[in-house]
Amino acid sequence: MSRKVILDVDTGTDDAVAIMFAALHPELDLIGVTTVNGNVPVENTTDNTLRVLDWIGRSDIPVFEGLARPIARLGFPTARGDSDGGPHGKALPIPEPRSVRQDTGAVEFLVETLRSATEQITLVPVGPLSNIATALAIDPALTEAVDEVVIMGGGHAVTNMTASAEFNIWADPEAANVVLSAGFGRLTLVPLDATYQALVTRDTCARLEESGTPAGIAASRFISRRIDAYDGTVNAADAAPVHDVVCAAYLVRPEVITTRSLHVTVETAGPLTIGRTVMDTRLNSTQKPNAEVAFGADPQLLADLLLDVFTRPPSTTAASVSPPPE
Ligand code: BDR
Ligand code: CA
Repeated sequence: MSRKVILDVDTGTDDAVAIMFAALHPELDLIGVTTVNGNVPVENTTDNTLRVLDWIGRSDIPVFEGLARPIARLGFPTARGDSDGGPHGKALPIPEPRSVRQDTGAVEFLVETLRSATEQITLVPVGPLSNIATALAIDPALTEAVDEVVIMGGGHAVTNMTASAEFNIWADPEAANVVLSAGFGRLTLVPLDATYQALVTRDTCARLEESGTPAGIAASRFISRRIDAYDGTVNAADAAPVHDVVCAAYLVRPEVITTRSLHVTVETAGPLTIGRTVMDTRLNSTQKPNAEVAFGADPQLLADLLLDVFTRPPSTTAASVSPPPE
């Protein structure tokens, strides 16, 4: 039986790769995608999400638009405002969407779906945690319907937004604390420490492109853009992290990451450290772990998974329901 998954995204090039992976992997049943403000404003993350699903023939997966702002810091920037030279850009380089988002909002979808779930659902938030925290504020018992929450966010030795913080957690630190302390049965955190170890190379992009499949072409385009943007900032030539897809890959091949059980909380007060994931790595810590934290990731296994899922002819993927647009 395939695993039921809800992705919460701020699409974004790496979110886009994660969406394609979850939508096309035969062992995953992507029952909905919720969008949130993050890499770009929420109307653009929604538009990008619809583009991706249309492009790979999975317009049947419903998209629900979520929060345009963090839950507490209303004065915070409403989006990262990625520039045209950045790893995302405002609009993904594939055709405009043909399908439209649902009328129901993301938080309403999360609350209704989790309240009425007859089987366990896996939540995979790979953007700021505003939607998930708001749903939990409405009904803290939603955790009972979730077998695992897999979050891309945070950093211990590696950060990217400030000297202390990773972007997804920094963008809504109060929301992150709500989710980390909600009491989920299993919470896996995939921080930058892990995603920077699973760099995807230009060689993999070339193989994806050569496949000629819609997903292969799009993944190559998105990851190549990231490699251009990361040029010189990672310890490898012609490669870049594709953070969010590590979470999706973990769902089907848990060994793609290696984890430690730790207590994690988020700093919300220090002016220099807002959004820092404070991971209690002390060997003599008495704090009860609330997360399985990834500190390692396997680049070869990730590349193999991307090639496996994205280069399959569309007809053999989970449910190719309409031909890709030209
Ligand atoms: C995270 O921030 C976003 O830019 C990416 O999509 C990823 O989820 C990495 O810090
Ligand atoms: Ca993201």
